[in-house]
Amino acid sequence: MSSLSTTDSSSEPSLKPAEYCFRCIGCGYLSDAAAQDFRCAKCADLLEISYTGWNDSKPNPEALKTLWRNRRALNFAVDLSGVWRYRELLPALAQNEQPITLREGNTPLYELPQCARITGVPRLFAKHQGMNPTGSFKDTGMTVAATFARRAGFRWVACASTGNTSASMAAYAARGGLRSLVLVPEGKISWSKLSQALDYGAVTCQLRTDFDGCLRLLQELVRQAPVYQLNSINPFRLEGQKTLAIELLEQLDWNPPDHIIVPGGNLGNSSAIGKALLEMCELGLISRLPKLSVIQAEGANALLRTIREADGKHLISVQADTRATAIRIGNPASWKKAVHVIEATGGACEQVTEIEIAQAKAEIGAEGIGCEPASAVTLAGLKKLVRQHFVKPNESVVLVLTGNLLKDPDYTIEFHQGELFKQAGEGAASLNRLRRPPIVLDATLDAVIRTLNQAENS
Ligand code: F0G
Repeated sequence: MSSLSTTDSSSEPSLKPAEYCFRCIGCGYLSDAAAQDFRCAKCADLLEISYTGWNDSKPNPEALKTLWRNRRALNFAVDLSGVWRYRELLPALAQNEQPITLREGNTPLYELPQCARITGVPRLFAKHQGMNPTGSFKDTGMTVAATFARRAGFRWVACASTGNTSASMAAYAARGGLRSLVLVPEGKISWSKLSQALDYGAVTCQLRTDFDGCLRLLQELVRQAPVYQLNSINPFRLEGQKTLAIELLEQLDWNPPDHIIVPGGNLGNSSAIGKALLEMCELGLISRLPKLSVIQAEGANALLRTIREADGKHLISVQADTRATAIRIGNPASWKKAVHVIEATGGACEQVTEIEIAQAKAEIGAEGIGCEPASAVTLAGLKKLVRQHFVKPNESVVLVLTGNLLKDPDYTIEFHQGELFKQAGEGAASLNRLRRPPIVLDATLDAVIRTLNQAENS
């Protein structure tokens, strides 16, 4: 069994864990503690974690790179985690504190040669967060937030979810000896995600509302009951999710890609990745910022409309509807943070149609990688950004694939059997060449060989 390191080289003076406080993103108010709803005590806006210690002395970037690289050879639980390995940029663990970890992070960066040909962008990569322990990027945030929930003495943790957060929260709560309460919209999340929450022992409530309704209710609940909320409003979660970008840059030997493209739902993940990029630049870990772009489903395009119609100044909510159920969100909590990081990195925001999402998902699947529908918006969005000349063919691009293919098998099977978009007519015809329906045959060698020949000649 692995054990916790308490005497590693991070005790060097320049590599001390960072001191932090909570900073309101609206009025800038700094506080040492956060209320249970994670809202500013002065103006009720969202909080973020700010590393005040860096004002006096910043960690040395070269020392950090060496330390993080060396930790890959160690078998301590904190070093095996692809989140806690970067703990100098995270809220500090207490002396001898064991984080709740499932060895999250450590996700692969894949080349996408076929999608590179399709898009005309040869240097195209996927950072596959669906390879996390519960199959989505949520695990990187959950290890941090669940650890801090336990430290704060809570018995119960809770979240509203389109499925992945609830699966992840339930797993980490179980590992940490906490009870968990899940609020999900009835009939609007995939069975696969629901089954995870059930198996990991969460109390699972399917509410007759949408995700936005579940989140509203949760925010009321945490003000009245001793329940710790684990939605991405919780700034500890975003600190953990930040490590996606740190690990990515380490995998690229600290050469920033020109573009990072991420799906947008409640907008916690884009905010977290953007925060990491800005912090890595501030600390001198990278010398230039990648452009961070956020892609939404056309039917759940609150951020896009907020930027286009309100210049990013106030949120334009929408009644969300998309088969990419993970991002079926009309009232995204972290919209202000997302607007900030898109502006600060010079990124873009785009929307894609249901058919574009389905096509992109099949193309990522055909690479032998696969992802869930919400992740595929990144490839669909890239095609659009290339057409607009926002992404140039000689630039390097990383797509963040947020969830595993197995998260939504119904979608995939309906797609290949031709049942998805049955009514869509013309537009959906372009999908036919990507469909691979299962073939029912008599159990004879003849039938199988005939099928093989047909496939070879098609
Ligand atoms: N991709 C997947 C697979 C997701 O599950 C989510 C969000 C997103 C993208 C969008 O990320 O919300 O940070 O902008 N899922 C949440 C959930 C809302 O409850 O599982 P975001």
